[in-house]
Amino acid sequence: MKGIIFTEFLEMVESTFSPAVADQIIEQNELDSNGIYTSVGNYNKQELLKLVTSLSNIVDISVDVLVKEYGKYLLTRFLVYYPQFFENLTTTFDFLDTIDRHVHVEVEKLYTDVELPSFQTKRLSDTQMQMVYHSSNPFAVLAEGLIEGAAEHFKENISIRSDISDDHQVATFNLTLVG
Ligand code: HEM
Repeated sequence: MKGIIFTEFLEMVESTFSPAVADQIIEQNELDSNGIYTSVGNYNKQELLKLVTSLSNIVDISVDVLVKEYGKYLLTRFLVYYPQFFENLTTTFDFLDTIDRHVHVEVEKLYTDVELPSFQTKRLSDTQMQMVYHSSNPFAVLAEGLIEGAAEHFKENISIRSDISDDHQVATFNLTLVG
């Protein structure tokens, strides 16, 4: 998994909790990386799961809540690093439609060894969209947070009904534009 996913996670931990907590979650785990990540490197995705599990124990917030919050945060960081993917888009649904056929395709060209999920989007009506997530990684809740972050960015109120498999590798998100 790309280093940017780790560096941004640790930055969120530092700013939301403290640099000491970020150090603690690194020290509590045996990590091949030793907790040293660069945004362009590639690291074992299990390390992210270890870090978030340690964080969950320390701050007493569930892993799912932390991962979802991280997804929201990550979207704000993608806006800074990859503004080109948001250009000319004005709605959450239009943006989400581009992830599978444009954004992640470009990400694959930019970086080697990425393992991206697949998304099928279906417009059910003007106010309803279904997004189905499939991945070899257990990051469905991260996707949900990214969707929430996108809705915040486009200043839309979107309710999300999620149906997530036990292994977190498959999910159906039913999105309704409320306002
Ligand atoms: C500008 C927008 C986006 C960019 C630049 C981007 C880029 C990336 C990158 C670099 C990774 C790491 C891949 C790896 O290291 O293997 C990733 C993974 C992922 N992306 Fe995106 N992404 C964007 C938007 C989204 C959105 C809106 C969603 C959800 C609807 C999403 C869902 C995911 C998930 C869930 C993963 C984790 C890997 C997995 O589940 O298999 N991304 N993305």
